[in-house]
Amino acid sequence: MGQVIEARAPDLKIRPEDCLGVKHSDPSTIVIVGATGDLTARKLVPALFNLYLNDGLPDPFRIVGCGRTKLSDQEFRNKMKEALLVNGAMDASKWPAFAAALNYRSVDYGDLTSFMSLAEFLRKLDQIHNTRGNRIFYLAIPPSLYKPLAQMLGQAGLGKERKNGNGWSRLVVEKPFGRDLKTAIDLNQGVQEYFREHQIFRIDHYLAKETVQNILMFRFANAIFEPIWNRRYIDYVNITASETLGVEHRAGYYEQAGVIRDMFQNHIMQLLALTAMEAPSQFETDRVRDEKVKVFHSLRPFPVEKLHKYIVLGQYGQGKIDDKPVPGYREEPGVSPDSLTPTFARMKVFIDNWRWQGVPFFLTSGKRLAKKLTEIEIQFKGIPHSMFRQTLGETIAANRLTLGIHPDEKITFTFQTKNPGARVCLRSVTMDFSYHQNYTGPILDAYEKVLIDCMLGDQMLFWKQDGVEQCWSFLTPILNECETCGNRAEMLHFYESGSWGPQMIDIS
Ligand code: BG6
Repeated sequence: MGQVIEARAPDLKIRPEDCLGVKHSDPSTIVIVGATGDLTARKLVPALFNLYLNDGLPDPFRIVGCGRTKLSDQEFRNKMKEALLVNGAMDASKWPAFAAALNYRSVDYGDLTSFMSLAEFLRKLDQIHNTRGNRIFYLAIPPSLYKPLAQMLGQAGLGKERKNGNGWSRLVVEKPFGRDLKTAIDLNQGVQEYFREHQIFRIDHYLAKETVQNILMFRFANAIFEPIWNRRYIDYVNITASETLGVEHRAGYYEQAGVIRDMFQNHIMQLLALTAMEAPSQFETDRVRDEKVKVFHSLRPFPVEKLHKYIVLGQYGQGKIDDKPVPGYREEPGVSPDSLTPTFARMKVFIDNWRWQGVPFFLTSGKRLAKKLTEIEIQFKGIPHSMFRQTLGETIAANRLTLGIHPDEKITFTFQTKNPGARVCLRSVTMDFSYHQNYTGPILDAYEKVLIDCMLGDQMLFWKQDGVEQCWSFLTPILNECETCGNRAEMLHFYESGSWGPQMIDIS
């Protein structure tokens, strides 16, 4: 039962294509370190090619792939062409001009002279192509290499910036940013020996999702929600990111990480911050990021001795996804047969500040669950007094607002209304707004958005060092307790693949 809210075309002078933000940034070279890997083929080159097709790359631009494998420029171009064909992103008529801007350099990750010669090569490219010394170094490599490679780039002088606006240098890293507080601090310090905070772009691809960005617009561009967005009206908040996928071919990483490091330390924490933060005085990078950090600062530390009251951990066993049998986590290739790595977690967290005192936030994420679903549910409190009690003799469901991120990019509000008829009966109905309704312009994929922001030097959608460390200081004691306590095995509840996770444990 739903009623669709018509999204009217905005009465603004802005055309949809102007909202894309695909505008020319400074001429620059994008250096992908780890260019023969999976991320480059699956995400980065398709995103760059698509930006090229939409006139979204700098003019001029160069893309330099670097890796340990020895390849010629032509071999690298062929490899990237294959990747685009697999990806379905190929436009054969535009490929030759794009391919001409690709180069490849093999580098020895442990040898400074190799990086010095990369630096020399980049200088030459600048001279030939007038890319003005502006460079993005995208680290598409395993996290254990972030620090040594950032330092190598730095020692080769590639972290230095000129003062006249051009000649900038930016470093892009993907999560995980460390595996606990200590390693995150160590990584930050190591990278910051050569790159300053304004040069470091720590990616969280959830922040590049349109509907995640929309949370702030929804909250702060509408007057009616803020007055009720607090402990007086909100009973609890559910933040869910469930997946049907299993660990796939990533056991080597996942066995060491587990769901808390993989999903909570980054994506879930960002969703929490966007839901709970105060309004910044300006929609400006540091002010937005500072407000989020204040939320992380206000997280109430878990009483580790009573962890079972606040957290449920699970691991998937065999089951069915889309009616097909799937193996349990312990049977996945590369996973230890007695692994205690959690693939599911549900946490109850509290934010100790004036707005949220006493409101539980339930955070849930897991692999091999019944459905791929990402959403934020704001459950409002029930009415204080029911004048219908005599007539209806039933409880009246409280209002609920759902911010859908995946699969439905929508906002849904559930409320009570009268059923047509002579008797007084209530029914729950929903108002739905679908995010793409009445929008026909182009849509940017998350990696395209992230790359554009790096080229423009806009860090709004990237993690700042203090936020990373603050989240780790909240999660590290929990991880320590979960990973080292004697009853580690008892804390882990097995669930059937295709179910909603361990349901019998109640932390409400
Ligand atoms: C990644 C995690 O960061 O996010 C993966 O490492 C997870 O394990 C993925 O599958 C989920 O992203 P999305 O966009 O599919 O929800």
